[in-house]
Amino acid sequence: MIRLVILASGGGSNMQAIVDAHKFGVLKGLAEVVLVISNNTNAFVLERAKKENIKSVCIERKSFKDDESFNKEVLAELQAANADLVCLAGYMRMIDKEILNVYNGRILNIHPALLPKFGGKGMYGHFVHEAVVKAGEKKSGATVHFANEEYDSGKIILQKEVEVSKSDTPEEVARKVLEVEHKIYPQAIKKVIEENLRG
Ligand code: GAR
Repeated sequence: MIRLVILASGGGSNMQAIVDAHKFGVLKGLAEVVLVISNNTNAFVLERAKKENIKSVCIERKSFKDDESFNKEVLAELQAANADLVCLAGYMRMIDKEILNVYNGRILNIHPALLPKFGGKGMYGHFVHEAVVKAGEKKSGATVHFANEEYDSGKIILQKEVEVSKSDTPEEVARKVLEVEHKIYPQAIKKVIEENLRG
């Protein structure tokens, strides 16, 4: 069984989708979530982890003197959990070089747009959907990609479109996109395990 660690800062609906895929879906018998790490003490993802009996830790940036020591602690937790794959699921911090080196090709991120469009620094959460509506896009979607040293620019693993109609508000686009996120994240994890992690 592949050991997944999820890093999340917010609600954790993608974390829930991955946990559910292990219990009833495409990740059954293939991968399980062994740890949830959050940088936000108030994140609902921590409640979800508790309810699912999954170990969780909260590592707050403010408890560390700099980004480097904060990331060292994150890395220590990943290693203590014997993580095989790391899934960023609404994680609002940058992963540093050291973590990327140790987990080279084994860190995935989900982004709520059709990358390379609407990605990069400052493009996260509702900002993405607001920009999509403002630009008058006819479609948006979700992208699962490998994390690298730049925001939202690593190799794409899976992408799925949704239609955006003229009357859609950013909230409506967000709802449609989130629905496909929950489908493609577990599928992308399965793809990476089958193509990259199995000999
Ligand atoms: C998701 O829409 C995810 O794509 C986005 O945050 C949301 C987290 O929702 N991530 C980013 O914008 C990262 N650039 P969740 O906490 O319910 O899974």
